Amino acid sequence: MANPKIFKLKSSRAPIWMMRQAGRYHSHYQALRKKHPFMELCKRPELACEVTLGPIQDFGFDAAILFSDLLFPLEQLGLGLDYDQGPPNIHRPLGPHHALNREALEQLDPHFFDFQQQACHLLRQQLPAEKTLLGFVGAPWTLFTYAVDQISPVPGLDAKLALRDGRWEQLRDSLILSIFQSMAAQAQDCDALCLFDTSAGDLSLTDYQQFALPAFNQLLDQFKTYFPNVPLIYYGKHIGLEYFESLPLKQLSAIGVDWRCSMEKIQRALPDHLMIQGNIDPAWLHLPQQELKKSLDLWSKPLREKTFDRSRWIAGLGHGVTVKTPEENVRFCIEYFKELGAY
Ligand code: CP3
Repeated sequence: MANPKIFKLKSSRAPIWMMRQAGRYHSHYQALRKKHPFMELCKRPELACEVTLGPIQDFGFDAAILFSDLLFPLEQLGLGLDYDQGPPNIHRPLGPHHALNREALEQLDPHFFDFQQQACHLLRQQLPAEKTLLGFVGAPWTLFTYAVDQISPVPGLDAKLALRDGRWEQLRDSLILSIFQSMAAQAQDCDALCLFDTSAGDLSLTDYQQFALPAFNQLLDQFKTYFPNVPLIYYGKHIGLEYFESLPLKQLSAIGVDWRCSMEKIQRALPDHLMIQGNIDPAWLHLPQQELKKSLDLWSKPLREKTFDRSRWIAGLGHGVTVKTPEENVRFCIEYFKELGAY
C-alpha cells in the first residue's frame, strides 16, 4: 500500500501533480501577474493562495503546491533578492573574498516565513478535503549555487570552488537553519513537503556525498526531530540511482526523478516504502498532440508491465511545466496519466 498520508484519492490510480503547475503557461496566473509583481504574489498570503488554487480548479490536479519560491532563505540571510527583471537577482552574492555579516546570519528573524505559514493555513481551509497540500523548499546545495557569485562563464564552476575555499562553511549552517524555518512554517498545514535539489547533478557523486549530503542530512535530522510525521519528497535533477541510494531513504517518502532516468529501474532498486515521482520530459508538452501521444506511448511501455507498481507512482513531469506550454497539452497529459495510473 502506498503511503496513505500524502494522497487522499478515493479511486485506485496514481495521484497527479506537476512542478510549476501554477506558472506562466497558465492564463489564470498570467491574469494575476498582470496586476501584481511576482514577489507580491508570493508574499501576500491571499494572493499566493489564489495562484495555488488556479490549477486545481482549472485542471483538477490531485495535489496543490504552495505558490512561493525556493530562494527566500537567501533574502532572510541578508543577501538581497528581487525578480524585477524576471530571473532572480541576488544583490550581494557570496564572492571569493567576501565575508558574510555573521551577526545578521546569527539573528534570523523568526517571523520571516510567516507569509508562507499564513498562505498554507488559508490553503488548508480552502482546498477540498480530497486534495493534497504540498509545501516546498530547496536543498542546501541547490540554494548555495544561487547564493554564490557566478563570475566564471563556466556554469556551476564558482559554486564548486566555493565548496572548498571557505564559503560553504561560512554559509552552510545558517542556510540550513533558514531552510528549516521555511519548512517549519509550512509543515503545520501541509500533507508533505518537497525538497527540490535542482542543482544536484552538477556535482560528482563523491562531491555530492562529501558536501551536499551531510548538509541535507543535518536539515532532515533537525526537521524530523520536530515534525516526525510530515512526509518528505526529494527531487534531484540530472542524477541517477547511485545518488538516490546515498540519501537517508528511511526519512523520505518519495523520490522525484527527471526524464533521463528509468522510473521502473529506480523503483525496483529502491526500498518499498518509497513512491517514485515523475518523469516525462516537460519539452514534450510543446509537441503537437499526436506527437505527444506517440512519445507518451513509448515512454509508458515499461510502466504498463507487471514489474512496475503503479500504486507506488506519483504521476508528473521530470521537472517543471515550462513557459508557453499549451494548456490543452497539460489537460491531455492528465487524462493520459489517469488511464495509465489505474491499478
Ligand atoms: O510548482 C509550483 O507551481 C509552485 C511554484 C514554484 C515557483 N518556483 C514559482 C516561480 C516552484 C516550485 C519554484 C521552485 C524553484 N524556484 C526552483 C526549483 C525547481 C526548479 O524549477 O528547478 C528554483 C531553482 C527556483 C528559482 C527561480 N525562481 C528561478 C530560477 C526563477 C526564474 C526562472 C524561471 O524558471 O521562471 C524563479 C521565478 C519563478 N518562480 C517564477 C515562478 C512562477 C516566474 C516568475 C514570473 O516571472 O512570473
